Amino acid sequence: MEIKIEDLKVLFSEEQLQTRIKELADEMNKFYNGEEVIAICVLKGAVMFAVDLVKNLDMPLKMEFIRLSSYGSSTTTSGKVNAVDIQLPDLNDKNVLIIEDIVDTGLTAKFLIDFMHCNFHVKSLKFCSLLDKKITRKVDVEPDYYGFEVDDKFVVGYGLDYDGLYRNLRYIGYKGSSPDGDYQG
Ligand code: IMP
Ligand code: MG
Repeated sequence: MEIKIEDLKVLFSEEQLQTRIKELADEMNKFYNGEEVIAICVLKGAVMFAVDLVKNLDMPLKMEFIRLSSYGSSTTTSGKVNAVDIQLPDLNDKNVLIIEDIVDTGLTAKFLIDFMHCNFHVKSLKFCSLLDKKITRKVDVEPDYYGFEVDDKFVVGYGLDYDGLYRNLRYIGYKGSSPDGDYQG
């Protein structure tokens, strides 16, 4: 089975996404209170969200990009996180904000949080995900900030892909039934 563009239903419109992102940014602006932040975008899925979020943040901010993948041959996570590319500057004593597209099993989030604590003595570490599939969680991890909760459906658009496709959509959509195919972080 595959996902065709005409099968997609809108779950979160462009306007809903942008409104919620501004709310999240307001919360973060209050929390960081003008302190410098290192925002780490988890490629590829979080790219749209990270870009729109940081445009609404008003503290001194540096952006970093890392690439992970946790995919097998279906729309369910493989259960393994691969560090495809993690090259980071010295994050000791920094306010680190990790920006993800979606927390599903939680393996990626847990991997990243452990990675930061193992390698650096950060000043603060916050994990922000646009979407939170709480119902599919396998490890005990919660994002500090999230945009929307979603139930157990496969979603695409606004950075999230099905077989590499649909990242360019301005909205987040879904297809009712569960298709087979790769999603690549
Ligand atoms: P986790 O490690 O199982 O929490 O999932 C991590 C990655 O799986 C996310 O960063 C996404 O890239 C991908 N993923 C999980 N659910 C979906 C979905 O519904 N659509 C597209 N990608 C997803
Ligand atoms: Mg991802």
